[in-house]
Amino acid sequence: MRAMFPAIILSMGFGVSATAPHAQDMTLGEFEYQNSCAACHGPAGKGNGPVTDFLSGAVPSDLTQLQKNNGGVFPVQMVYEAIAGGADASAHGTRDMPIWGNRFRQRVTESADGYFSPMATERYVNSRILALTEYLASIQEN
Ligand code: HEC
Repeated sequence: MRAMFPAIILSMGFGVSATAPHAQDMTLGEFEYQNSCAACHGPAGKGNGPVTDFLSGAVPSDLTQLQKNNGGVFPVQMVYEAIAGGADASAHGTRDMPIWGNRFRQRVTESADGYFSPMATERYVNSRILALTEYLASIQEN
């Protein structure tokens, strides 16, 4: 299993990037962001994506201000949990933000051929969320 995992990730990565122009110029985090988040949060993270009008009044956050709003420290854990959708996701009020932990998990189930062990699936999910978190850290305005 250990040796197989990188090969699966690579082949899945190539599978995805073949359909997306310029994917090879992006980091994994940026690629995931443009695919999964930009529709609501906007291509540059400013919270003005095209899907915004269809949300039931919820306003996607400006993701370039997370660090500023947290006293100059990028809130790693909050961001990770906002994406993963932890147990207390709804503690912050309404939850119009999709739970990406489950989406990524589902993606593995649907695309893999049964080779992913539960642990490998969690690694896949975790690596996506970490890559996104890192990408968001890189677009903070200050
Ligand atoms: C369907 C629209 C939608 C999509 C797609 C979406 N979000 Fe969100 N997001 C929201 C909304 C709306 C909020 C505001 C909180 C709420 O209403 O749940 C939010 C909040 C957040 C927050 C919390 C910010 C804060 O200040 O508390 C983070 C971080 C975040 N989104 C990251 C992401 C990432 C990363 C992705 C892609 C994996 C993503 N979002 C995809 C709609 C979306």
